[in-house]
Amino acid sequence: MIKVIIVFAASLILLACSSSPTHLNVSSPDKEIDLQFIINQKSQAGYLIEYKNKLVIDTSYFGFDFEDEKQFGNNLEVINSSTSSFDETWETVWGEQKYVRNNYNELKVELKEKGDSGRRYFIIFRVYDDGVAFRFEFPHQENLKDVVIVDENTQFKLTGDHTCWWTPGDWDIYEHLFNTTRFSEIDALSKRSHKALAQTYIPENAVNLPVTMKSDEGIYTSILEANLTDYADMTLKVDKENLLFQSELVGNDSEIKVKTKTPFVTPWRLILISDRATDLVSSRTILNLNEPNKLKDVSWIKPTKYVGIWWEMHLGKSTWDMKSGRHGATTENAKRYIDFASKNGIGAVLIEGWNTGWDHYLGKEKLDYVFDFVTPYPDYDLKGVVRYAKEKNVQIIMHNETYAHILPYEERLDTAFSLYKCLGIHAVKTGYVGQIVPDGEYHHGQWMVNHYRKVMEKAAEYQIIVDVHEPIKPTGLRRTYPNLMSGEGLRGQEFNAWSPDGGNPPEHLTIIPFTRMLAGPIDYTPGIFDIKFDKYKKENQVNTTLAHQLAIYVVIYSPMQMAADLPENYLGNPAFQFIRDVGVDWDTSIVLNGEIGDFITIARKERNTDKWFLGSITDENARDLEISLNFLDKEKEYTATLYEDAEDSHWDKNPTAYKIENKTVFSSDTLKLKLAPGGGSAISFIPE
Ligand code: NOJ
Ligand code: CA
Repeated sequence: MIKVIIVFAASLILLACSSSPTHLNVSSPDKEIDLQFIINQKSQAGYLIEYKNKLVIDTSYFGFDFEDEKQFGNNLEVINSSTSSFDETWETVWGEQKYVRNNYNELKVELKEKGDSGRRYFIIFRVYDDGVAFRFEFPHQENLKDVVIVDENTQFKLTGDHTCWWTPGDWDIYEHLFNTTRFSEIDALSKRSHKALAQTYIPENAVNLPVTMKSDEGIYTSILEANLTDYADMTLKVDKENLLFQSELVGNDSEIKVKTKTPFVTPWRLILISDRATDLVSSRTILNLNEPNKLKDVSWIKPTKYVGIWWEMHLGKSTWDMKSGRHGATTENAKRYIDFASKNGIGAVLIEGWNTGWDHYLGKEKLDYVFDFVTPYPDYDLKGVVRYAKEKNVQIIMHNETYAHILPYEERLDTAFSLYKCLGIHAVKTGYVGQIVPDGEYHHGQWMVNHYRKVMEKAAEYQIIVDVHEPIKPTGLRRTYPNLMSGEGLRGQEFNAWSPDGGNPPEHLTIIPFTRMLAGPIDYTPGIFDIKFDKYKKENQVNTTLAHQLAIYVVIYSPMQMAADLPENYLGNPAFQFIRDVGVDWDTSIVLNGEIGDFITIARKERNTDKWFLGSITDENARDLEISLNFLDKEKEYTATLYEDAEDSHWDKNPTAYKIENKTVFSSDTLKLKLAPGGGSAISFIPE
């Protein structure tokens, strides 16, 4: 580990007299990004950002509204400031890459309201080569003890009417499609009535994070947050008149956003900046803004592929409940999946609908004690299944659908997790479908942020990894808690099975890497081979080719990657070999090309082997791409197996046609990829 910390001038005391504006600067290590902190004539604090000598965030201000207090953010003066530098390379427990460099310059400014009784805070800016982050730190102080935040007013003023990739600022769910419009055309309120969402609440014309933008000059920016701890999720309100985004924290029905006390810090507000869209995807800054791993023993945390009793319920082949007479989670069916996993080198099996309670699932009545998370249905021999799995060297992933009944789940966590631990189970998929009980809270409010944290920490105590559906969005906490492995928080594959709007369009996953995926791993559940599934449902289908389904094992990052289709749809299909081979934990990841909403190609080298995998996907347009293989080891000869769209493949007209080709390749070679409409290419490179 290399670690360098330099503290420059301990305090650049400012000679700021009350009316003259103050300016302080800090640049990125490569000097391309410049952050300017200012105090304007009205004594308000703000900032602006330049990238390659061009303004990318125009003068923007900060402010807070506290309950029963006068507004905070006016009448400020700088009492102290310091700059420092940091450079460290650290090793990930698992991830897109083995080593991550954390290199930034920091400016810390202490501000105080003028007058003796003035309230104080620090603003900390960190400028990286790929962006700028800042957070507010309120120290312990006599004039500000218990704090109720009714609004955080952090601004991001744009320099033009950028193209934006956005989802509506929903307080309850992230499962909206991304929209592509100019900033001035963002209309979140038009997304209010969605037939496929069990919960949704969009109070304002705001967007959820990450939101990604491109200026007419070709500068990409994405706004995210990092280390969301004991605070509310930030959405951004659209202020068209002033061409700015302003923070709008998620609240509850009593109109409180955050309840806390000094000392406290806010999450980091992070703006990624580059003139190449691909650089956004390569950024690990969100991890660097989180604290190092807190878990001492991580031997039980293992990236894995998995199959599961899951897609069959979404297709309607079976059900979670028993009363239908088509219960999916039977002992016999579980053993069938375990056999399949074991034969194909797949490490784990997820079993949904194993526990009693599903007969009330999605019922109108909000019964408090529907699920106890420990009692299996009578046709599911939990212990027997676990024993069988162990014999076959397969892990079981438990499923805890809470139906958003928070307190009963919290009460039962210890009992449930100690049972799983006794059984030698190390993985739980959680779920939060429906409106939060108790009433008046929302999935993304501070109260729920703290709930998700509690479950993650409790799981770590019991050596359990979590895969959270209907989660709070990832903010890089996986660095601190590597048992937080994957999650949903987007329109997953399941929408293709049943969404009345026809599912995820072919361009969906060409937007996701540049938006939602900047926040963290995605349990998208790839690998559907029976694209049309007419046997079960005629009205829906997956809107990609089969080769595209393979490519997303590489493109969409998750350390838990599902082979989501029914085992019978994989049997005898030669394309399944790619799913058997593909890695889930990486030494290196390289984004080779990409434009948001059009296409993307990523190559990843498996951790602890010399194998490389490449995935390339396109939107509804066919595309020819040339790929230089110069990422491969120069000394080695590789067998490349290419899983590609056939000549006449098409996401709708002919989605399952594909071809497989083997080639010997070297790092000096170039490959020509031909992607069909909605298509993709998946390639494994195995050294000879
Ligand atoms: C929604 C989740 O996203 C899905 O994966 C799960 O099968 C259902 N809820 C039932 O819990
Ligand atoms: Ca979901």
